[in-house]
Amino acid sequence: MINLTIDGRQTSVPEGTLVLHAARELGIDIPTFCHHARLLPFGACRMCLVEIEKAPKLQTACTTVVSEGMVVRTDTEQVRLTRQSVLEFLLANHPLDCPVCDKGGECELQDLTHRWGAPASQFREAKNRKGKALPFGPFIVMDEERCILCQRCVRFDQEVLGEGGIGLMGRGFRTRVGTFQGRPYDTPFSGNVVDLCPVGALTSRPYRFRARPWDLTSVASTCLHCSVGCAARLDARENHWVRLRGADDPAVNQGWLCDRGRYGFGFAASPERLTAPQLRRGGKLAATSWEEALDRVVQALREAGPDRVGIIGGGRLTDQEAALLHHLGRQVLGTAHLDRRAGRQLTATPHLAGGTLEDLDRAAHIVLIGCDPEETAPVLALRVRQALRRGTPVTELGPWQTYGPGHAWIPPSRWLPAVGSTATALAGLREELAGQDQPVVLVWSGEDAAVHDELARWRQAMPGARLLIVGDQPNARGAEAAGLLPGSGGRSTPELLAAAAAGDLQVLYLVGVNPALSFPDGALVREALEKVPFLVVQDLFATESARSAHALLPVAAWSEKTGSWSNLEGRHRPLAALTPAPENLPDDGGIFRELIRRLGGEVSAPLPAPAPPAAAAAYPLSTPPAAEGLRVATVELTYSGGGTVLHAPALSPVLPEAWVTLHPEEAARRDLAPGQVVELSCGDSRLTLSVRTSAQVAPGLALVPRRLPHSPDNLLTEGAAVALTPVPRKEVLP
Ligand code: SF4
Ligand code: SF4
Ligand code: FES
Repeated sequence: MINLTIDGRQTSVPEGTLVLHAARELGIDIPTFCHHARLLPFGACRMCLVEIEKAPKLQTACTTVVSEGMVVRTDTEQVRLTRQSVLEFLLANHPLDCPVCDKGGECELQDLTHRWGAPASQFREAKNRKGKALPFGPFIVMDEERCILCQRCVRFDQEVLGEGGIGLMGRGFRTRVGTFQGRPYDTPFSGNVVDLCPVGALTSRPYRFRARPWDLTSVASTCLHCSVGCAARLDARENHWVRLRGADDPAVNQGWLCDRGRYGFGFAASPERLTAPQLRRGGKLAATSWEEALDRVVQALREAGPDRVGIIGGGRLTDQEAALLHHLGRQVLGTAHLDRRAGRQLTATPHLAGGTLEDLDRAAHIVLIGCDPEETAPVLALRVRQALRRGTPVTELGPWQTYGPGHAWIPPSRWLPAVGSTATALAGLREELAGQDQPVVLVWSGEDAAVHDELARWRQAMPGARLLIVGDQPNARGAEAAGLLPGSGGRSTPELLAAAAAGDLQVLYLVGVNPALSFPDGALVREALEKVPFLVVQDLFATESARSAHALLPVAAWSEKTGSWSNLEGRHRPLAALTPAPENLPDDGGIFRELIRRLGGEVSAPLPAPAPPAAAAAYPLSTPPAAEGLRVATVELTYSGGGTVLHAPALSPVLPEAWVTLHPEEAARRDLAPGQVVELSCGDSRLTLSVRTSAQVAPGLALVPRRLPHSPDNLLTEGAAVALTPVPRKEVLP
């Protein structure tokens, strides 16, 4: 511990502490601009200058480390005059357009000027003019005149993202922040620079001129766009959700958000949202009353009997709603046919001790198994990027390589049988790393049944191994903990769909899932949804699966309900209601309660503990044919598919067109150039896609993004041979 005196008060702080933090611990406020708790000390703005005895000049509190016997003064005349001067210089060329600036009311420059600034400026010269309202990226607008060159944005880009997409351009009074070669700042984390900017230089396009801070109501909640569960503040103006900002949960997101989470909120106000229940009459869905809709659902459930009812979904519910759904299914209806899974993910039955996001910070080795966290769990990927920068080895097993040349990549797999399966590669890695006493963190998409079994062997070989399963539904962990997996004798999702297709199921109840896009066997799911005599779909939107529904039950969005859920670590994440649901829509829990009541069950009684689920069942994906040639592999993308992302207008500029990525040699062999349009055929299915090439895709693969409504990849059989036929240009043009 180091002893020092600040403003006459003695204190002891650990060695290495910054003077700024030592002062803040004593409750002494030192104003700052460039300092940020999640960025390295920098010392650019000079706002934090303090007197330190024996130092010839004032020192920056944000970069000076305490030393034994140090005497610091933060409140002298010289310090006050210096702060005033720093502000005067910052404002010398400032446009003073606070009345029309989005940041007005929550601007650090405004606040510190009120507190420490001079009453009037001494500058009489004409102001230096710079660019205003310049497009900076798909979501960001830059006002160069407001920038105080604190470089928080630049440092975030370098230190946290490691991208180097923005930097200081020009010299002297012409210095400005810009993107290299004027390219749009299109990293999937771009919105964080708006949170970081202490002034109104960087503003969010979707939030510009929408509200003033004093008009906002805010709640502390969590982003529910993926299984990471980033802490966030949700802001609404007059009951309209207008903004989502990062909040600092050190164990989870450390203040950062990805752009899917930050700008995906527009779905809640989408005009396409369902606002009234619908029943099928005369072959068509028509709006009806809640009374009639629920009566009809109850009647269908009663008539079917427990063995002919199946429920799919639950990974988008709160933990409390998942428990209610389990109660409705298992106790009230008496069915064991419940399954939260509606995509490729197997159950998340943990074979290894549950990993945490913080394990990635201390991992001796990170193994990514068939999963690209940059796309599916972006804020988790920020920790992987940090680990790479620390020199932690990362091994990727999957059809494409995310982290570029120089890191281990085992392009296996079930797609390319000649190379061996992912599980075989994983077994080899286990033998290589055996005896490792530092944690090895495995990040898995939970899709390969053989990997599921191999992970059990990791547990015996390596007690330090930790597993993180990136959920394909945000609350996959909570739904499984609530028991939303088939019970003993219960049917899994593929079995339920097969039963529906064979006429053995009377009622299929889909809760917040859209298997018509997400389930790997598109033909089976379509047949099942068409044949089942009574299909109930409970969702925000009329999804592809809802086209054959007999009852459509709209629900409140996650920003309109309160509860909690569990992220991929199983960590409790709070959910707070920001706005009321349109037309007073009930939340999912409200519908379950009402169904339980009408079916004669009790909801006030404590909910029984869920029964342990049956062992994971692998989906019956077809074995790849042995033929030579290209095989199809699919990947989840940040902005592709998903129940809500497609309904968020702010994300439309970055929504991907469907494409197929080939290794450059594969493209050259087929005489295909990037941008060329091809028809990809797989059995009877055809998709029209544009060609991209990347050396980070395994040769022999045709990589297709998942869950795009205009190119449903579940018409393709994973690993199956595909043919690519160029589409003549005239056929592409409208
Ligand atoms: S744009 Fe904002 S965060 Fe970036 S240097 Fe300027 S003031 Fe700082
Ligand atoms: S990483 Fe996931 S939880 Fe976090 S902001 Fe992005 S979508 Fe939301
Ligand atoms: S906060 Fe210390 S120099 Fe900017």
